[in-house]
Amino acid sequence: MTNIPAAAPVAGAVPLTMRAAAAASPGPAGQLVDATVPSPVRVGSEVLVRVVAAGVNPVDAKTRAGRGVAAAASWPLVPGYDFSGVVVESPYAAFPLQPGDEVYGMTAFPRTSGSYAEYVSVPALNVAPKPRVLSHLEAAAVPLAALTAWGAVVDLAKAHEGQRMLIHAGAGGVGHLAVQFAAYFGARVTSTASGPNITWLRELGASAVIDYTAQRFEQTASDLDVVIDAVGGDTARRSLGVLRPGGQLITLPSADWPTMAADAAAAGVRATGFWVTPDATTLAVIGRLLTSGDVRIRVDTVLSLDEAAAAHRLVEDGHVRGKVVLKVSDY
Ligand SMILES: NC(=O)c1ccc[n+]([C@@H]2O[C@H](COP(=O)([O-])OP(=O)(O)OC[C@H]3O[C@@H](n4cnc5c(N)ncnc54)[C@H](OP(=O)(O)O)[C@@H]3O)[C@@H](O)[C@H]2O)c1
Repeated sequence: MTNIPAAAPVAGAVPLTMRAAAAASPGPAGQLVDATVPSPVRVGSEVLVRVVAAGVNPVDAKTRAGRGVAAAASWPLVPGYDFSGVVVESPYAAFPLQPGDEVYGMTAFPRTSGSYAEYVSVPALNVAPKPRVLSHLEAAAVPLAALTAWGAVVDLAKAHEGQRMLIHAGAGGVGHLAVQFAAYFGARVTSTASGPNITWLRELGASAVIDYTAQRFEQTASDLDVVIDAVGGDTARRSLGVLRPGGQLITLPSADWPTMAADAAAAGVRATGFWVTPDATTLAVIGRLLTSGDVRIRVDTVLSLDEAAAAHRLVEDGHVRGKVVLKVSDY
């Protein structure tokens, strides 16, 4: 039998209870209040992290409202996938991440409680070293949005030189990273956004930006290889019509569109949904692009943990430029 080296705890570092933002039951943003909840207990290959900042994503708000991933969540609900923080306990002495290391990643929410809390215990495969050039507030904005953008643009669409790609909601958390990844790999990017975001998206690498408040995107977009849709609904459906024969629609919001595959086939194109996967290896690659400056993360608003309800209202309003982040503790 092999002896497993002992974990590397920091004695007394984790109190039995911790501060969190929690919702007692599904409902509007005001359900999220300051709460004291049990601290997580690290097991197996998990890494226990003291959270400095938590990124806010639309799925957090949808879940709090009883949608999103609420079917698998338990209440009181502590939402939150994204975190940046400092390792407090790691699985064993030779594990690459050790107490004191700065890390970022995704929690196992909704199977465990989320990152709107002082501590999270996360699977080792969900956590990567934080890029040094990023503050914790910036790093917490990255994981879910960047892994989604990468999954759609690089893994599914296989972004490459000359590929014609339309990215809806280019100014959002996912969109502004998707535009940059696509441009980095040489795609010719068109994006949709409202007027005030047009110049910024051009700076990020979009060669054309359509102001969706002033015109329908079909008026100028056509014969595209790929559409990445971060809006859903009518925007997703109309996107089938701007693809070239055999082109692909990748739609990110969980769509109530049971006939999607049949509608795409009837239009002579392909369509798929997508679900983000926590992935430390890809996060490390993304971290290198953030470090080199080839890709930038934009934090729109920073709020404190006790302002989590306000953060959800902002995200639900649907016009965040980049990301909203909660400052959980001092670093
Ligand atoms: N399946 C997955 O794994 C996955 C992962 C991540 C996200 N998602 C989903 O993808 C969607 C986007 O996520 P996100 O984090 O990027 O959201 P977000 O940051 O909240 O998106 C906000 C952005 O949407 C833009 N926008 C709103 N309506 C628009 C429209 N009709 N056309 C073009 N742009 C529009 C806004 O730009 P303006 O201010 O210029 O209007 C704003 O910048 C959400 O539904 C989210 O739940 C799914």
